[in-house]
Amino acid sequence: MCGIVGYIGPRDATPIILNGLKRLEYRGYDSAGLAVLQAGKIEVRRDAGKLSRLTELVQETPVSGSPGIGHTRWATHGAPNARNAHPHLGSTKRVVVVHNGIVENFLELRDELTAEGVKFSSETDTETIVHLVEHHIASGLDLTEAARRTFLQIQGAHGIVLLSADEPDKIVCARIGNAGGVVIGLGEGENFIASDIPAILEHTRRVIFLESRQMAVVTRDTVQVETLDGMAIQPQVHSVAWDAVSAEKGEYRHFMQKEIHEQVRSLTDTLAGRVDFNAGRIRLPELNLTPGLARKIEKIYLTACGTAAYAGMVGKILIEKIARIPCALEIGSEFRYSDPIIDENTIVLAISQSGETADTLAAMEEGRKKGTRLWSIVNAIGSQAMRIADGYISMQTGPEIGVASTKAFTAPLVDLYMLAVLLADLRGGIDEKTRRALVADLRLIPALAGKVLSRDAEIEKIAYTLKDIRDCLYLGRGINMPIAYEGALKLKEISYIHAEGYPAGEMKHGPIALIDENMPVVCLAPKDPWHEKMISQIQQAKARGGMVIAVATEGDELVASLADHVLWVPETPWMLSPVVTVIPLQMLAYHIAAIRGLDVDQPRNLAKSVTVE
Ligand code: AGP
Repeated sequence: MCGIVGYIGPRDATPIILNGLKRLEYRGYDSAGLAVLQAGKIEVRRDAGKLSRLTELVQETPVSGSPGIGHTRWATHGAPNARNAHPHLGSTKRVVVVHNGIVENFLELRDELTAEGVKFSSETDTETIVHLVEHHIASGLDLTEAARRTFLQIQGAHGIVLLSADEPDKIVCARIGNAGGVVIGLGEGENFIASDIPAILEHTRRVIFLESRQMAVVTRDTVQVETLDGMAIQPQVHSVAWDAVSAEKGEYRHFMQKEIHEQVRSLTDTLAGRVDFNAGRIRLPELNLTPGLARKIEKIYLTACGTAAYAGMVGKILIEKIARIPCALEIGSEFRYSDPIIDENTIVLAISQSGETADTLAAMEEGRKKGTRLWSIVNAIGSQAMRIADGYISMQTGPEIGVASTKAFTAPLVDLYMLAVLLADLRGGIDEKTRRALVADLRLIPALAGKVLSRDAEIEKIAYTLKDIRDCLYLGRGINMPIAYEGALKLKEISYIHAEGYPAGEMKHGPIALIDENMPVVCLAPKDPWHEKMISQIQQAKARGGMVIAVATEGDELVASLADHVLWVPETPWMLSPVVTVIPLQMLAYHIAAIRGLDVDQPRNLAKSVTVE
């Protein structure tokens, strides 16, 4: 779960790497470093802390040249200090590596290398890679073959980039398993390597994605891809539609704020090309869904982690309600241990912004092993979850940089709704009037989201009154129950306030004991089929002295008379209401964290894509 950038070409690699790392900082920000070949010598600059520290370091002791590689780290083995920061040089100082992943057999390899007299200068597993490469070079191999030999020796999942001062015309990289992607960006007389597309978007949109157990030798003018066993591969060159501007903060203070406010556009893009409002029909061509297949489906397992899993919970309700197909939601990290009962009539549907979440990919692998069909709903184009699926729905939201997921939550809600309608249609399980009405409701969504966003100043005011709270409960029922979970997750991950989402109906079975004047309670009470039940929940919380912040439908005087604060949302068809009710909770969490002066985009201990189990 680290960020990697590499450059080879006529330009100075240093600013290219620093800029690229800036766009990847969301992947990890415990330490950062770069290595550049300058006058025949590998120069390394690295330090603990955020990328700004590396930028200072490069200003204090400049370095320039090409090729170069860089890294921003989310620590797994070894504390996040300068010694453990990447890149790691070998003993000869002629080979250097950056790495994303965990060398699972590193203790064993380190013992073998130590017995040979190798001195380790960090506590990282990564350092074994560079020493192994040097060991093989010392036995007569060139960088490519020494790297290949090493890649075959290490266990686990990895993205690795290596360069050698003795072979300055190349960078060698590899992807093994699901530790995150390795993308090669194709330029004119120059080439780029990155763990993720945003790092190289300003230079090129033509990219090659390495598959697992593939390595590449990248020179200024060529990219040679092979399997680790030496079989040449003719890689597919993809054209990425995202542009560099969509990965910029623009006028906003934080990416999260920008991404919240982008939701009118991202929801519009989500519908684009998929909805035929005249015919009242949905098209999801990349899903490869035929009427025959739709009729055969007996069960859908939705699997995902974190925010994406909460989208999956809403999806379960939608698919069961609209398409009448039994669904189960299984958290990605548990799926493979739950021994799921699946066969060829079951679909495993993974939801992931990054498409690289290790636990979600492991769930997909489990599905594959059991012979099921795999679908995914993914944002990152070309990511593993997109490529290994038999069919996919692309979120079409553009890059999401803030660690707290926002627009990549509302987009899959709409995708799942569209999927439910399409399944119902293809199975012949829906009458035309209902289908047309469900499709027509989609047209309202971007504007309804816009109405909530226009209340930003009101929500910020409420955030000021909540800025010092220590705990917060979020309650919801029915289709808005997952939104209680999601609202609580947003608050806790960026403001470090303890927050819990709970099914409102479960309160009386225990958690109600927590409610007193120090426990604010956020109640999701829009005009949906559970509205009355939520009213009685608000009354119960008030009776125990709790401060109630209600999410309510505009004009709902009853809720307004009961709650201490109201986050207003426009009237929305109930099956689409989560798209609208979550937005004020995103805004509330954002403002509370920003008022507390916290690093909203890069909260402590987190990273954007969790590519470790
Ligand atoms: C969301 O705000 C989180 N930071 C996190 O829960 C995230 O949704 C989860 O790690 C899954 O990521 P993915 O969508 O990239 O698979």
